[in-house]
Amino acid sequence: MSKVTLADNIYWVGAVDWNIRDFHGYTTRRGTTYNAYLILDDKIALIDTVRHKFSNDLLRNVCDIISPEKVDYIVVNHVEMDHSSALPLVKEYMKNATVIASPRGKEAIIQHYGDSFHIETVKTGDQLKLGKRTLQFVEAPMLHWPDSMFTYVLPDKILMPNDAFGQHLATSQRFDDEVDEHVLMEEAAKYYANILMLFGSLITRKIEEVGQLGVAPVMIAPSHGVIWRSNPAKIVNAYLDWSVCKAKRKIAIVYDTMWGSTDKMAKAIAEGAISQGVDVKLLKLRAADLTDIVTEILDSKAVIVGSPTLNNQMFPTLSWFLTYITGLKPKDKVWSFFGSYGWGGGAVRGMSEMARKSGFEVHEPTIEVKYIPTAEDLKKCFELGKQIAAEINV
Ligand code: FEO
Repeated sequence: MSKVTLADNIYWVGAVDWNIRDFHGYTTRRGTTYNAYLILDDKIALIDTVRHKFSNDLLRNVCDIISPEKVDYIVVNHVEMDHSSALPLVKEYMKNATVIASPRGKEAIIQHYGDSFHIETVKTGDQLKLGKRTLQFVEAPMLHWPDSMFTYVLPDKILMPNDAFGQHLATSQRFDDEVDEHVLMEEAAKYYANILMLFGSLITRKIEEVGQLGVAPVMIAPSHGVIWRSNPAKIVNAYLDWSVCKAKRKIAIVYDTMWGSTDKMAKAIAEGAISQGVDVKLLKLRAADLTDIVTEILDSKAVIVGSPTLNNQMFPTLSWFLTYITGLKPKDKVWSFFGSYGWGGGAVRGMSEMARKSGFEVHEPTIEVKYIPTAEDLKKCFELGKQIAAEINV
């Protein structure tokens, strides 16, 4: 296999997972990669490993370059198992290597794999001299685990931030300028929305902090997807926009239906919003993919959610959706709720309560109809769409 070079003596040695479609619930329609990097200098460092089932890919890539026992350091930027579960096997081949991790990383490595490794901990600002090159570390707690850390390679100015700036995208190319830009940004947005949206405020602060530390990367090499070499500022700026949930004049209508009443309401609301020139995405929960729905919400200014009532409660798919989205806590959205029922009702009340408890701004009044929406009910739905479109236009 031809070697992938980021710079002289810095290699990509990771693995491509073409076939994964369910990454702990995240729909990875285009697969993913587990990126690891090998840096050759007076001392040799491996930055991150891969998912266990791809251990042989990593070892084969390393063996194409050097003998694994020559590796002096294995930097573990993040202990989630897609990056660290190869560590026990890889360490058997890299028997002379010291493991480098943040203090929380050390704790997590021991909790996952036992305490047989020699681990040295590093903090923000610590440096590890390899020879001509130096690794500088920046702790990045909760981006997205407590152990998370970035490694900055000097003097090349290559940032290896692990999960941050990644994309679940399996390709035979390794760099941003080699892939379709639209696909790349779509996957980067999906990744941000589903993995990092909860941590928006931390991301803004971390980008400021790394700037103050003098970290000004000319290349960003994440642990998933392609490496940003043509214009790393593009993904950094996109993260700054996403971290504040910068929205378009766009409304996401997320709903489910049993016998079509909530569907009719959703379509009437959509027509009302469209009549005001707003972009509308109509997303039925059993027709659209949850991972994609969350990506649509990322740049929507309003989210209108509808459910039929089943057993005095919201329909189960709505419970699934609301549990996920209230956990991700998208910022600065207008939320509105509607639905239908046969006798007792309860779905709209339950959804509104769940949203309010999560601190979401809920538009009043909500709309709930009995059995089949009348022409008058549908007019109210149309007006709701118009009203929310007007609200987000200001
Ligand atoms: Fe790609 Fe948090 O693991």
